Amino acid sequence: MIRPILIHPDPRLKKLCTPVPDLSDGLRTLADDMLETMYDAPGIGLAAPQIGVLERVIVMDCVKEEGEAPKPMVLFNPEIIGSSDDTSVYEEGCLSIPDQFAEVTRPSEVEVRWINRDGNEETQVFSGLWATCIQHEIDHLNGKLFIDHIGTMKRQLITRKMQKLKRDIARGKA
Ligand code: NI
Repeated sequence: MIRPILIHPDPRLKKLCTPVPDLSDGLRTLADDMLETMYDAPGIGLAAPQIGVLERVIVMDCVKEEGEAPKPMVLFNPEIIGSSDDTSVYEEGCLSIPDQFAEVTRPSEVEVRWINRDGNEETQVFSGLWATCIQHEIDHLNGKLFIDHIGTMKRQLITRKMQKLKRDIARGKA
């Protein structure tokens, strides 16, 4: 089921999310809904707070090549356990901040541990776009947005644009 995506600014996007307990069918359904919502948007990553669920769940699929098989990933309680000193700069966007982009510097590689859809622990090193995406999504679980990594002026400008967008949506004009 496709769920509505919250638009910044929203207090639910600023909250520290809680770890999920043992996996249940309800949590698997949540993850499936998140993947469906992400692909529909379309986007390459989505965190549970973006659909108003304040729990530590993210989904992603950074496969971008035409014709390449999709690689949907579901991560419960993801945790960064190591980061490279090398950094990369990517122009980031966010489904909760539509049509706004900014360059963000982050570690190029991160090692992440999480619980997968089968309830098993996995550990993997991510690099390239995957590394940026997973850090962006884990930030969401800690109430942080990509605009919190950029200068105050640009952040305020983007936030004002989003406030206007939300007013327009509320009036049925967007
Ligand atoms: Ni985002």
